[in-house]
Amino acid sequence: MLQQLNGHSSSSPDQSRVSLREDIQEFLSGEAPLHQLDDLTKVNPVTLETVLRCLQARYMVDTFYTNAGCTLVALNPFKPVPGLYSPEMMREYHAASQPQKLKPHIFTVGEQTYRNVKSLIEPVNQSIVVSGESGAGKTWTSRCLMKFYAVVATSPTSWENHKIAERIEQRILNSNPVMEAFGNACTLRNDNSSRFGKFIQLQLNRAQQMTGAAVQTYLLEKTRVACQASSERNFHIFYQICKGASEEERVQWHLPKGSTFSWLPNPERTLEEDCFEVTREAMLHLGIDTRTQNNIFKVLAGLLHLGNVQFADSEDEAQPCQLTEEAKCSVRTSASLLQLPEDMLLETLRIRTIRAGRQQQVFRKACSRAECDTRRDCLAKLVYARLFDWMVLVINSSIYADPDSWTTFIGLLDVYGFESFPDNSLEQLCINYANEKLQQHFVAHYLRAQQEEYAVEGLEWSFVNYQDNQTCLDLIEGSPISICSLINEECRLNRPSSAAQLQTRIESALAGSPCLGHNKLSREPSFVVVHFAGPVRYHTAGLVEKNKDPVPPELTGLLQQSQHSLLTVLFPTDPKEKTQEKPSGQNRTPALTVVSKFKASLEQLLRILQNTTPHYIRCIKPNSQGQPQSFLQEEVLSQLEACGLVETIHISAAGFPIRVSHQNFMERYELLRRLCPRASSSFHNPYSAKEHSEQPPQGEAATLQTLLQDLLHILPALTGTAATPVDSAECTPAPLQCGRTKVFMTDFMLELLENGRTQVLEQCARCIQCGWRQHQHRKQKRQRRAATLIQAAVRSWLTRKHIQRLHTAATVIKHAWQKWRIRMAFLASKELDGLEEKHFSQAHGSPNSSPLPPMQTRLLGAIIRLWPLGLVLANAAVGIHSFQRKLVVHACLQLPSGSSSSSSVQTAQQDQAGVRSIRALPQGSIRFHCRKSPLRYADTCPEPSPFSVTGFNQILLEKHRPIHV
Ligand SMILES: Nc1ncnc2c1ncn2[C@@H]1O[C@H](COP(=O)(O)OP(=O)(O)O)[C@@H](O)[C@H]1O
Ligand SMILES: [Mg+2]
Repeated sequence: MLQQLNGHSSSSPDQSRVSLREDIQEFLSGEAPLHQLDDLTKVNPVTLETVLRCLQARYMVDTFYTNAGCTLVALNPFKPVPGLYSPEMMREYHAASQPQKLKPHIFTVGEQTYRNVKSLIEPVNQSIVVSGESGAGKTWTSRCLMKFYAVVATSPTSWENHKIAERIEQRILNSNPVMEAFGNACTLRNDNSSRFGKFIQLQLNRAQQMTGAAVQTYLLEKTRVACQASSERNFHIFYQICKGASEEERVQWHLPKGSTFSWLPNPERTLEEDCFEVTREAMLHLGIDTRTQNNIFKVLAGLLHLGNVQFADSEDEAQPCQLTEEAKCSVRTSASLLQLPEDMLLETLRIRTIRAGRQQQVFRKACSRAECDTRRDCLAKLVYARLFDWMVLVINSSIYADPDSWTTFIGLLDVYGFESFPDNSLEQLCINYANEKLQQHFVAHYLRAQQEEYAVEGLEWSFVNYQDNQTCLDLIEGSPISICSLINEECRLNRPSSAAQLQTRIESALAGSPCLGHNKLSREPSFVVVHFAGPVRYHTAGLVEKNKDPVPPELTGLLQQSQHSLLTVLFPTDPKEKTQEKPSGQNRTPALTVVSKFKASLEQLLRILQNTTPHYIRCIKPNSQGQPQSFLQEEVLSQLEACGLVETIHISAAGFPIRVSHQNFMERYELLRRLCPRASSSFHNPYSAKEHSEQPPQGEAATLQTLLQDLLHILPALTGTAATPVDSAECTPAPLQCGRTKVFMTDFMLELLENGRTQVLEQCARCIQCGWRQHQHRKQKRQRRAATLIQAAVRSWLTRKHIQRLHTAATVIKHAWQKWRIRMAFLASKELDGLEEKHFSQAHGSPNSSPLPPMQTRLLGAIIRLWPLGLVLANAAVGIHSFQRKLVVHACLQLPSGSSSSSSVQTAQQDQAGVRSIRALPQGSIRFHCRKSPLRYADTCPEPSPFSVTGFNQILLEKHRPIHV
């Protein structure tokens, strides 16, 4: 679902989707950061993406082990991790009361198995399946587990017992370097790749002490002795003897320094595993004495020299192939090391004997060059395979405990993982077949574990719908017709068949199988098997031959002729074996093919596993370069697929991959009741407020159930469809179920709930937006009103201030004017008082001396009394224009209108307001007489008097600046 959420293109929806995804992720994974999740099943939802992210987060903080349900995922650190496998750590896990509560570790698995054995609960025997790609750390893990058991499964009670136990453990541990030297090789993927599968049975007595062990091996890649891919190497032991032999041994084994061998590619690479001394020491501890060791290494040196035998085509087909001088020398050395007659060796390699006819007549036929090469390689493979088996036998005899001395066991299966190369053949078919078998076993176990969890949670759900890999297994091993049966039949019929014919046969006989595919693009004959971990194309060329693994009887016969003490053990001249190996004409018993042998051993292994309690460790290689701190998601993903972890994820998905605690579920989805009006009345949140503590748990569950029911009812509203999952729930399980502690749901259900939640949140968001906008609008309105009020107040204040200033100015003018008037009145009265006295006397003499008629005199008096008003009028900004102004001024001041030279009235610019100043030539004082006399002499120039103040009336009124209101 999360991928779906993330699957759109435009950038902004993308961002919102990413944030939604993170939100869901956070909700599902709870509070814990990814690297703190100890169990991949706690990753919510269980998808590849989240699993990968979790593993990566843990790897980056040097946490290499993670649980995945019943499986432990082990990431290869590719670096030594101090203290991770120390004896103290082993004891810590051993002493812990609940080791599963400690950090995930292989020691948790080790301790768990050990306690299971102790508990004696059936099945008592335990098995640990360690799987993974080459280089992922299987062998390392098995080795560490063996060391763990060697530490914990001992009894310190009696010293003697302790010594015996220690010796056994040492032997068990010593089997590792020996088996790795003979069975491991440097490949492109791993410097120490195990080229065989092994099952180690650690045997415990009644007191759960380790008393012995047994090793079973599977399918050694013996072709590597004679054929190595470029950049790969032969088995480690060949390099060890060439590099680590003493001078004396070099002479003995014909391995002079600097000698080159065609079966020893890339000898210049020195690996940690090339330590000859360690192998020898371990062999010695296993009871293989120096003499036997010497014999073993002699045989190996003989094989190396055999590899240098190169054949050349002979001119005459009837004649055996030619040999160069060097090759002859190699044959000689090889024969001497293997203690074989040189002639016989040469003849066996170059000449084929055929028995035919009733009398079993022997015909001899010279082999072609290619046949010679095959016979040479076959000889080497035969010797090496027998040597390896013998080594395992010796190891087993050295570590195996008396059957009476042990009662239980812990099995460790270190098996090659699923393989898919560009060119796959019988080896890969067998390996992948084994992996299919193990996967089926694992899935059955995993499903059981899942079902147990559901049962604990009280869920009713069965995995009836889950299809396991039985169809693929039917295709490979089924009866009566399967790939294995067809290949075996080809071998049995012993008829010449081409690769193309085999392909056609497989395709036509198994056409009905859904797991069989055909790569139409491939030119080479092949068939495709769709395994659980992916499709693999197998080439049919050479398949039958490999399955037959034919060993020409002459080769066995030759080796039986050897005087070498080891070869006589490896190839005994036992008459029984002779008859088995020898083809005896028409009625011989069919030889066992590789596939049938492998199938038999696999079935035996599975029988053992089925009777044990299995534990799984999946080793993962974070990168193919072996670099620490580098986690390549793609590579890890393909391994998760190959080891079946993806399959378990799919199984989880088939059930209820999403598990959420009751409380988390309520907190997140409680709001969905808004979509369901019916539910809102009946529903109340059991986790909200005080109710929670007061409600009994029964009530909580009931309320939760009610909510779940309500949610199921609103599903149609969420999907917008008529068909509801509730309807379909009648035949299939409901997509949402309530367990005792968790709510279980499918991906589909989570998607629906999330959609509903988004709907509700959108509604809420719209509501909030609406409210917010209203609030904003109201706020703006209020602000505007307030601003208007403030502006009005300010304006009125400014106006008041201005008017006040005007008032002040007017008051000042008034006061000045009053002062001036008083003064003038005083001066005038003083002057008039003098004149009056004179005039009074004159007036009494001539009563008709007034120059003005009485009416005019009264008007003049009025004008003079009102002249300040006239001045104000003249100064007014409006109404009176230039000429009128002057007139008013003249009238006010009673200036002689005839003589313009004696006075001038200066007005401001015509358009500007008011009279700027009134100027008059100094003519002595202007006399005002307002009350006492009608100023009879005001228009006449008074006599200049020494007491008059010149310039006193020059500026009568001066306006400095116009005032604008
Ligand atoms: N737990 C580990 N700690 C450190 N190094 C490891 C660990 N597991 C594996 N390795 C390294 O990885 C290499 C390959 O591991 P190995 O067990 O041989 O792989 P496999 O058996 O799966 O092919 C080892 O040689 C070792 O260097
Ligand atoms: Mg290995």
